[in-house]
Amino acid sequence: MKHLLVYLSLFLSVLVKAQSPTLPIIPIPQKITAKAGQFELNAQTTLRFDLNNEQIALASNYFNQWLSKYAGYSLSTGKQDKNSIVLELTPGVGQAEGYRLQISNDQIKIQAWQPAGLFYGIQTLIQLFPVQAAASTKLAAVEIEDHPAFAYRGAMLDVGRYFFPVEQVKAFIDMLARYKINRFHWHLTEDQGWRIEIKKYPKLQEVAAWRSESIVGHYNTSPRKFDGQKHGGYYTQEEVKDIVEYARKRFITVIPEIEMPGHAQAAIAAYPELGCLDEKLEVGKVWGVSSNVFCPNEATFTFLENVLSEVMALFPSPYIHIGGDECPKDQWKTNATAQAIIKREKLKDEHELQSYFIRRMEKFVNQQGRQIIGWDEILEGGLAPNATVMSWRGTEGGIEAAKQGHNVIMTPTSYCYLDYYQSLHADEPLAIGGFLPLEKVYSYNPIPAELNAEQAKYILGAQANLWTEYISTESKLQYMFSPRAQALAETTWSGESRKNFPDFVQRLAVHMQRWKKEGYNFGNHLYDAKAMAKVEGNGVKFDASNSAKQGTIRYSNNGSVPTASSPVVDANQAITQSGKYVFQTFQEGQAIGRSASLELSFHQAAGKKITLNSEPAKQYSAGGPGSIINGVIGSDQRFNDAEWLGFSGKDFSAVIDLGKSSSLKQVKLRFFNNPSQWVYAPSEVKVSWSNDGQNFSKNQSSKVSAGQDKIVALNLALKNAKGRYLKLEVSNFGEIPAGAPGAGSKAWLFVDEIVVE
Ligand code: ACM
Repeated sequence: MKHLLVYLSLFLSVLVKAQSPTLPIIPIPQKITAKAGQFELNAQTTLRFDLNNEQIALASNYFNQWLSKYAGYSLSTGKQDKNSIVLELTPGVGQAEGYRLQISNDQIKIQAWQPAGLFYGIQTLIQLFPVQAAASTKLAAVEIEDHPAFAYRGAMLDVGRYFFPVEQVKAFIDMLARYKINRFHWHLTEDQGWRIEIKKYPKLQEVAAWRSESIVGHYNTSPRKFDGQKHGGYYTQEEVKDIVEYARKRFITVIPEIEMPGHAQAAIAAYPELGCLDEKLEVGKVWGVSSNVFCPNEATFTFLENVLSEVMALFPSPYIHIGGDECPKDQWKTNATAQAIIKREKLKDEHELQSYFIRRMEKFVNQQGRQIIGWDEILEGGLAPNATVMSWRGTEGGIEAAKQGHNVIMTPTSYCYLDYYQSLHADEPLAIGGFLPLEKVYSYNPIPAELNAEQAKYILGAQANLWTEYISTESKLQYMFSPRAQALAETTWSGESRKNFPDFVQRLAVHMQRWKKEGYNFGNHLYDAKAMAKVEGNGVKFDASNSAKQGTIRYSNNGSVPTASSPVVDANQAITQSGKYVFQTFQEGQAIGRSASLELSFHQAAGKKITLNSEPAKQYSAGGPGSIINGVIGSDQRFNDAEWLGFSGKDFSAVIDLGKSSSLKQVKLRFFNNPSQWVYAPSEVKVSWSNDGQNFSKNQSSKVSAGQDKIVALNLALKNAKGRYLKLEVSNFGEIPAGAPGAGSKAWLFVDEIVVE
């Protein structure tokens, strides 16, 4: 009998372990070992730690404040062993910021060799509590060993485009703390608003902090509309100190950013002598890159040194961000002071003048014992000696800086810009552009493959950036930030070896329940159906999925929302009928997430073979070459929906093999035309045909004259045309004309479905 009990309990403990669910911890800890037993936390549980250590008290106080909100009670400190939570600084436990968390029947113990580790252990513990509170909470026994993969785990908030009050900044910081993000990059100055009180320069508060109105809708739309509402605000130095202290208590360093030499229009509006023009400017009210930048005169350097002196007195951060991005050099080219400095300092051009500007400011910052961070443009014209580079225009800047032996923070737009669309659904709220779904953020590896192990050490970590041109409320801020920021937090804390997207999605579902309960907004696109008509093996097939990779996708072909008995998408089945196809995720018989639809219209080229003679841009060819002969017309609103192919500065040329010789009556083409995004309709289109794919007919050509419309549609009636092969040659518009955005650069060409009738 005794043996039987021993076996039974062994069997049960194995069973308990085997069945232990994925713990809902984000970022996923390095090592989780389920144990037998459970701890019961109630109002009698005590907290035990060295009361003389203020740093440990930060972790303990955070827990008590959280518990009091969550369960309505907090814990007393005490010396008891049983029913206690023990926080202990223990040399040798964990790596930097790491911790060990042990939950057993009698005790919860968190050990770390740094106070930050105890704080992170507390964050993990909190995530183990069920979403719904009870008078007592049972926590399954477990042992967790954890530490971060990267030392720099950042998030940036732009308060220049829209001002967010102190309480909202604190709530943002709280969210960082919960996900073990340890750097808050506070983007404080912009063309459209200066947000930090500088006592020496009162007009920064009176003038630069306010704009008369803001643009409504996307800045690419014309004509532009404005809201007529004065907008602005700034943080007083007392408020700044309060926020820095609030972050410190959460083991978060606040890195202030004071932009120079670009993004300075608000400051110049307050103090015109800082600019290159002899004219009064207003604080910016449209988005984009302003050509009004700081002039490199002595008045500017004195101003910036005085500003940075006040800033450094407020922020203990070892790093001060000085911007450095998007500084058009137009005004410097014609400004006498700027040209005199180029001559005096024997500089090659205006890029070297920017480098001179940054080096000079770096010297000043270094003299105060601090280091600068700058956006990757600070590489142009030569990197300042001790600068850390924030690589945003891609990874190239980061790779180059690391190779030069400089520290790097990775924040490439294609993985880290949370102002991009997270879904292409028609109902998605306005965003700046781009497309950055959750799974893509999650897939990011901050270490570029181009670096060797030695160079890779310069990659300090990565950062999520939240620019706010199209984010004017806290609710939208939350919607854009989560859950993508949490996905990046898992990258920077847990590292590549621990990542697993389906597992993340399971854990995320619990976090979403918690956010919902707290009234915190978030983007939930996990179950939204996504569908693409792909051209494969001489036919059109559906590729349908959702981000969560869960459930089944069903479809209808008559525009109605699918039901639980609609057919399931089969990726191998050729689709032969035109129709309005609607796709929907189903789980356990229930429709979940939003539906997607595709209007499919078969024509002679649909599903056939296309060979491109020019390479589309990687970021604008997600649907592959077949996406322009799949029977689906692209969006009228944006060219990033995988139905368009984008070519940067190149012509488009392709041959379609129709499979058999056919009469060709008409070719219909569509091009995107939006000069404010550097996108232009082509100048000319040529069509020719052939029976053997070698000898083509004389081409039939058509000049294109684009008007104001965003879509230029061209219907080419063909005369006496018959053949198996159809060749299209489309000429890029060429160089962007003077006066237009991107003047002098090569135009983009975007090609949609090629309909052959
Ligand atoms: C940036 O996005 N201009 C750094």
